[in-house]
Amino acid sequence: MALRNILTEEDPTLTRKCRVVTDFNPRLHQLLDDMAETLEQADGVGLAAPQVGVLRRAVLVLETNVPEGSEPYLIELINPEIIESSGEQHEPEGCLSVPGQYGIVSRPAFVKVKAQNRFGEVFEVTGTGLTARCFAHEIDHLDGIVFTSKCERMLTEEELQATRELDAED
Ligand code: NI
Repeated sequence: MALRNILTEEDPTLTRKCRVVTDFNPRLHQLLDDMAETLEQADGVGLAAPQVGVLRRAVLVLETNVPEGSEPYLIELINPEIIESSGEQHEPEGCLSVPGQYGIVSRPAFVKVKAQNRFGEVFEVTGTGLTARCFAHEIDHLDGIVFTSKCERMLTEEELQATRELDAED
């Protein structure tokens, strides 16, 4: 496995629409493994292939809504589509491609996603809260959408500071 470089907001690659994955080959597996390592190193909860410069429809989402005592786990989604959503949430959101900035984005409270795994097998997965937000955020990346373009507003420096203090208490 190898770390990949995460592109930042000003890179035009992030505004391009990604192509469907048709080959579930070792090259795809290498990409997913590298993305997992890159995401872990960056301490993030999601990563989309275009963020590492690959214009293919593949994302990783960390499922953090797990029972007490269990570890969060990564979900690999190839060619993901939101097939059901409900509710609404307006929470601060960030992105590894927009370091240090957070904004309020409207997202569904619940989503059901249909995708393929790394072997091409179709599956469905649901998410709520942060996970629902993360599915929506990462799938947006595949259509060239970065959260800052659909933000209701960015957080102020004071709000950021308060968030950091909350994090420090975790
Ligand atoms: Ni992002």
